[in-house]
Amino acid sequence: MADTNDVKAFVEPYLIGGASDELNQNLAAMAESFAVTDDKIRDIIKEFHRSMHAGLAKDDPEVLPMIPTFVNRRPTGKETGRFLALDLGGTNLRACQVELRGDTTYDLVQQKFTITQEAKESRLWDFIAECVGIFLEEHDLRPPEGRRTIPCGFTFSFPIFQTGIASGNLSMWNKGFTVPNSVGRDVVNLTQSAFQRHHVPVEIVAVVNDTVGTLMTSAYSFPDTQMGIIFGTGTNAAYWEDLARVGKWAGGPGGEMVVNLEWGAFDNATRVLPYTMHDNKLNRKSSNPGLQVYEKMISGLFLGEVARNAILALVDQRLLFAGRSSVILNKSYTFDTAYMSEIVADESPDLDAVRTVLEATLELPPTTLVDRQAVRNVCTMIGARGVRLSAAAMSAVLLNRPELLAASVSVGIDGSMYQFYPNFERDLYCVSRVFLGADFVDNRLKLHLAKDGSGVGAAIVAMTVEQERVAAAAAAAA
Ligand code: BGC
Repeated sequence: MADTNDVKAFVEPYLIGGASDELNQNLAAMAESFAVTDDKIRDIIKEFHRSMHAGLAKDDPEVLPMIPTFVNRRPTGKETGRFLALDLGGTNLRACQVELRGDTTYDLVQQKFTITQEAKESRLWDFIAECVGIFLEEHDLRPPEGRRTIPCGFTFSFPIFQTGIASGNLSMWNKGFTVPNSVGRDVVNLTQSAFQRHHVPVEIVAVVNDTVGTLMTSAYSFPDTQMGIIFGTGTNAAYWEDLARVGKWAGGPGGEMVVNLEWGAFDNATRVLPYTMHDNKLNRKSSNPGLQVYEKMISGLFLGEVARNAILALVDQRLLFAGRSSVILNKSYTFDTAYMSEIVADESPDLDAVRTVLEATLELPPTTLVDRQAVRNVCTMIGARGVRLSAAAMSAVLLNRPELLAASVSVGIDGSMYQFYPNFERDLYCVSRVFLGADFVDNRLKLHLAKDGSGVGAAIVAMTVEQERVAAAAAAAA
């Protein structure tokens, strides 16, 4: 891209030679509304810092939640042992047995269960207990000698206000979950009660956000890890903060602690975010209108829906598919973000992959090349906005502790957007160079895929908790 501070650079690539003026004018206006110039990112970083600092000082629904996680020990990579971990994401529940080898590597045996719609809406806690029961049985897992339960680290990918390393009250559901009688309650208690009902001999000794798990997993292999990020179904990050700067922390003094930003909630009031009518349409119809606004602009659950809204806006003006839609495309959330990835990656002259998605999957009437080019351009501009906003947030968090940037910095990242969206990582590096400096990004910043890291990280935290418990018991006995 040419000058990323000039709005023209965000518009010209999307105009189509041979298309009608009306279509091109609409594409230009749309591209302008999705543009995020460098100056815009500078405003976003400034607002991010204001919101981070306010959130560290006190809890306030208007600013970033900045949740202290009670995780205060960096892993060394020498940890050993076998631990059970449970990872509740937005799409899957994973039960894992993690073996830390003590040489910065680990082995993982895991079983994945797709979370049913019924579980998302009502019987989640029983669903979790049933899945864990199956996992224990299939892998013949029993409590270690001298214990009645298997200790377990629990990764929970929704916002909880932690009251301890193994307790936290759910602040709200998101990503389409609406399980009743849960908000405000301790999610460890709710899960533990379900374990009892189903006779599952497991005790949750640590609960961590998935970003914290990702950070810990990356730190186990790369000790210079400062941050864990999820760019997946949802999005969020956690980082090491100096406790002296956490005004609202009421625990012991000194040292560092991992803070869960819950950055999906950034700028819910849309003071600085480049918010369009297509975002607004999605937001209004979502299960949590007005909340997780930033997440809805960049994460996998929502990007396809923003694109669907934008495509339908062109259809309704008879600028695409001769004004015809399909039953499938008319339904919310049918334009999966995975289709966007396929469409954006298609560089064939006739856009054959785009044709397959539109005509075979979405059952639209036969498309023209201009239709397909326009759809590809709409997807590309929305994806590009997502990556630029992602880079803005990552840069803001790293710039918040500039002293760390003098040395090498690793960032552990997991999630479907990071793994599968075309050129996501390349573009993340590229955009960050402008704000973090080329020297730092080219020579000292390392982004690592922490694949399935959220579960492994929970096992690492569970292990430190167990070590402390054993040491405390030994001290009491002495
Ligand atoms: C949740 C976060 C989570 C993120 C990534 C968001 O919707 O609020 O707690 O870390 O998704 O899974």
